[in-house]
This record gives sequence, C-alpha cells and structure tokens, in this order.
Amino acid sequence: MYKYKVSILGTGFIGLCSAACFAQKDIKVLASTHNEKKAKIINEYKSPFFEEGLEEMLIDIKQKNPELLKCLTDPVQAVLNTDIIMITQGTPMRIDDSIDLSYIESTAKEIGEALKQDDKYRLIVVRSTVVPGTSMNLVGKIITEISGKVPGKDFGLCMQPEFLAEGRSIEDTLKPDRIIIGSIDNKSGDMLQEFYEYFYGDHLKNCPIKRMNLESAEFVKYGNNCLLSTKISYANEFANLAELVPNVDIVQVMEGVGLDYRINHRFLRAGVGFGGACFHKDVNAITKWARSKGYVSKLLEAVLERNDLRAIRIVDIAEGLVGKLEGKKVTLLGLSFKPGTDDMREAPSIRVINELIKRKVTDIVGYDPKAKESAEEAIGDKIKYASSIEEALKDSECTLLITDWDEFKKLNPDDFKKHMKSPNLVDGRRIYNYDEFNNSLNFRAMGRINLK
Ligand code: UDX
Repeated sequence: MYKYKVSILGTGFIGLCSAACFAQKDIKVLASTHNEKKAKIINEYKSPFFEEGLEEMLIDIKQKNPELLKCLTDPVQAVLNTDIIMITQGTPMRIDDSIDLSYIESTAKEIGEALKQDDKYRLIVVRSTVVPGTSMNLVGKIITEISGKVPGKDFGLCMQPEFLAEGRSIEDTLKPDRIIIGSIDNKSGDMLQEFYEYFYGDHLKNCPIKRMNLESAEFVKYGNNCLLSTKISYANEFANLAELVPNVDIVQVMEGVGLDYRINHRFLRAGVGFGGACFHKDVNAITKWARSKGYVSKLLEAVLERNDLRAIRIVDIAEGLVGKLEGKKVTLLGLSFKPGTDDMREAPSIRVINELIKRKVTDIVGYDPKAKESAEEAIGDKIKYASSIEEALKDSECTLLITDWDEFKKLNPDDFKKHMKSPNLVDGRRIYNYDEFNNSLNFRAMGRINLK
C-alpha cells in the first residue's frame, strides 16, 4: 500500500524530525524507542522535546492519516515490518570525552535479531554521528554475528550523516543543502538515493546527492562540525587580538573577512563561544579518536581549548570594567546555548557561572526567556533564577550578556540604568550598538576596546 516503509530507531531530534517529515509525505514510519513514556507521547502525536514546527507537524499527521506514524517500544518488530531501517541513536560523549557508541551497538544487535528471522533484503542506514569505521566494523559486524547475514549480499548498508541545527531541524530536514550517501555497494546507495529522490522530488534541483564510501561519509560530518567550530574559535582568537588595539572592532573585521567568497561570513561571530550537544562532542570525539590512532590534532584540540577560555575572558573583561566581582551581584542574560532553544548542553553560561564561582562571586542571578527549567536542572542552586529581565537586573552591579535572544536585542541603555544598582554591561554576543551603549553606560563588548 505504501511505496516506502521506514523504521527510525532512536527518537531524538534527528529521528523524530525525520519520522514526522517522512510521514507527511506518505511514507509509512515505525519509530522505536525503549522509553515507554516517550513512545506514549509520540503516539499521542506530541513531541517529547521542543523543536520549532515539530508539534504542528505531528498534529497534522494525526488529523490527516495517523496510521503513517507509530512509535513502538520493540525495535525488532519495527525492523521486521519495514524495508529501510534508519539508526538515529545518540552518540554522547563519555566521561573521558571520547565517543560512546553503546546505543549504536545495542541497536545493531536488535537489527541482527530481526534479520535472523526472515530472508528479506533490507537496507540499514546509519544516520547517527559515528567515528570512521563504525558503520562497517561495528554495525555491519554485529548484525552479521547475530543474524548470520552478510552485508552487501543479504542486507544493504549505508551511512548518511545529518547536519541539522537545533531550532531548524524541520527546515534542515525538508530542505538540506546536500545529501551525503556513503554505501557499502552500489545497490545499497542506489536504494537510498531512490528513496530520497521520491521524498525530496524537486528540491533535489538545488541539492546535490553526493555518493561515496561508508568511511568517507562518516568523516564528512566531522569535517563539517570541526570546520564550523574552528571558524568560531578563529573569530574568537581574532577578538582577543582586536582587544589589543583601541577601536578595532571584531564585528566589522569579520564582516570584511566574510565578504571573501572563499570564506563567507557565517560562523564568524565572536563572543562567549560555542555550546550545544554537537560541536564539543564531535570535536572531542575526533581528537580522542585521532589520539587513539597515534595522531595528535593540535589544531582541533586548540579549537576546544580556545572555546573554553571564552568564559574566563568575559569575566576578565567584566573585572576590568567593575573591579573584583567578589561580593557584587552579577546578572547573566541568557542561559541556553543559543537562542530559540531551552537546551543547556555545553552552554557557555555554565562555564561562565563556574568561573564566577571560582572568583568567589556568590550572588549570581540568571534570566532566560525559555530555559529557566532546564537551567535549574543543569546548574542547580549555584545561581538564582529570575522570571523577567527587570527582576534579573534589579540591584545588579554587572550584567553579562550570554545568549543573543531577540528579547535582549530590544533593550536600550536606559533599561539597564533604570534597574541596575550600577549600570555595568558586558556584551558577550555583540548585539548592542557599540557607540550608543558605550556613550551611555559602563560598557564593554568582546572584541572591541575603546576606552572613554
Ligand atoms: C550544530 C551544527 O550547526 C549542525 O550542522 C550540527 O548538525 C549540530 O551542531 P547546533 O549545535 O544546533 O548545530 O547550533 P549552531 O546554530 O550551529 O550553534 C552552535 C553554537 O555556536 C551556539 O552556541 C552558537 O551561539 C555558537 N556560534 C555560532 C557562535 O558562537 N558564533 C557563530 O558565528 C555561530
């Protein structure tokens, strides 16, 4: 009845967004998770996490054809009832910063159990971020060990990296700028390509499909995230250099640099550094992986080190403006790792708070338009949580702007003057007009120094 039946093993950002987008295009989707609570939420066509546009899409599926999307708690059944099996499990960071492939491993075992039960040819697609060699040497190997089936003969094997950014997951799923298909053989690659030709249709006129082997496809994802992280650390390094000279403004400098068509302006915004689940995890995973192979990637290790130092930098700048912060009330505007999400994973705010505490600052108040609850979970009682900007600024002696939410962009110097005990502001994301703020407040901005 359906042209394609796909199972999605793992219901995080990648899994659930894909599941919803596929189902909207008449593809029968069986998602699977071991978390019964999560499965129940999805089967009520709600999203277990916030992602722009996802819940609306799930409601739409429920209204038009709820049969298209079901979430099981039994991956073996999901595999047995589908032709294309996508692994979208998380690959978190271990305590030693290396990659944790345990979810991939257990999912591969479950797929093996399913493939053992009949002789149908199915295509297995790894879409999680995995270090090179994993699709073949872990996923393919485990499936073979358990099912006795041979990859490339009894089942197909592909690796298709994902480039979704949080807050844009639906848009990125529906309109990617390229599709990378790594495959063990032509038959597997052709099968996945045909699936995407069906799913994307006309969008492929602007979106090349690039075919390669499994290992190269695995590596593309790291090449991507490492370069984006490097661009940010590069801009931050230049921000430090800019601060050596009065009047050099990192924003203008990077705008100028980004106009070179070979470079482009994206991901050159200097500030308190990058956060989020991917950049730290992936740069760490690949540097640890390289070390395990006897290679030290000094460049990528420096990208992480420079990023961590941004928290120290912003606190240094604040103390340069205010003097010692010990004994003073300090406000953080923004706690989530970027605007548009309540995600606190690797958020710069956490590093800044730890640095403030190290310098014996005990009166810290944070405000975030969306991340109050998740921040309380991540940071606990190290800080107080305000419910409004006014409450956060009240009686404060120094404000650090950490996340570039639109709500903060609307503030003017008077808003700070009105509520703060002494209006000291450090713009950690360069959202304020430098001259306007510098003329009316005690103001510093990362990547620019011009003393009054
Ligand atoms: C990132 C990648 O963009 C995505 O392709 C990948 O699949 C997952 O990781 P995400 O972590 O959701 O996505 O957010 P992104 O928008 O890339 O921002 C990451 C961090 O970098 C944020 O903390 C952001 O504030 C910071 N950033 C971004 C900068 O500090 N400067 C910039 O110029 C751009």
